[in-house]
Amino acid sequence: MRTYTAIAPLQSVLRSCRQQGQRIAFVPTMGNLHEGHLELVRRARALADIVVVSIFVNPLQFGPNEDLDAYPRTLAADKEKLFSEGVQHLFLPDVEEMYPEGMALQTQVQVPDLSETLCGSSRPGHFTGVTTVVSKLFNIVQPDVAVFGEKDFQQLTIIRKMVADLCMPIQIEGVATARDTDGLAKSSRNGYLSEEQRKLAPLIHATLVSCRDAVACGFDNFLQLESHARMQLLQAGFEPDYFAIRDARTLRAVNENTEEIAILAAARLGSTRLIDNVRLTLNPVSDWGMLASP
Ligand code: PAF
Repeated sequence: MRTYTAIAPLQSVLRSCRQQGQRIAFVPTMGNLHEGHLELVRRARALADIVVVSIFVNPLQFGPNEDLDAYPRTLAADKEKLFSEGVQHLFLPDVEEMYPEGMALQTQVQVPDLSETLCGSSRPGHFTGVTTVVSKLFNIVQPDVAVFGEKDFQQLTIIRKMVADLCMPIQIEGVATARDTDGLAKSSRNGYLSEEQRKLAPLIHATLVSCRDAVACGFDNFLQLESHARMQLLQAGFEPDYFAIRDARTLRAVNENTEEIAILAAARLGSTRLIDNVRLTLNPVSDWGMLASP
């Protein structure tokens, strides 16, 4: 596995791969790699000849009171994992390489509307930081396909919209959320949880699943389902940020054109903010009473 800290040498190697007709898959990450990331890498390997992974803790997507400094950095272990998964190229830029003129002067890429709802309302500017860095990384790597986790479903939806709107010739591949056996979505932030909080954390997924079951059974009072779920989380000791039943494509309210429903939640356990989601495909020929689970 070759490691690059500068853009130019990576681009020159990838140019010759492309000239030889090799297909390139890209997995952008912020490091602290767990099984969820390795699933993305495996999918990338299955889709292309060359796999490029980036590790860059992007300061542009962290708010002033967020965990940028505390964000777990485990480079040696990450490198070993990527090497064992057969990754050929690892891009490890520093902030200076990505934002040479500083972040304030960086051109920004902003996906309106989708970036402002759900996590976007409690983390202003977060998704613009994500779309800006992902656009830069896409321009550096110029992959045929890029792989993202469905755990960050809003991020995945925003990136799909950005790629479509900016006519980027990149296939965006979503990979199902990797979970611990008790249902907790794997996340770098799970490492912040105390033993007691870790025992409580799977309740987010359990609450999402029971809400999905209720919708699938035809229960269509979404406001009631959402507030019941929020109450359950609150009573268990979470500080819920949102629990929302939305159209999976627009992340707006479900309406008669909705083909897939996403149920998304974000809640704090102590100082750790956890997010998760589940989805439900609607049967196109049926009414609300006949929904098909994916
Ligand atoms: O999902 C992440 O880890 C980050 O948001 C990403 C896509 C690597 C951009 O920094």
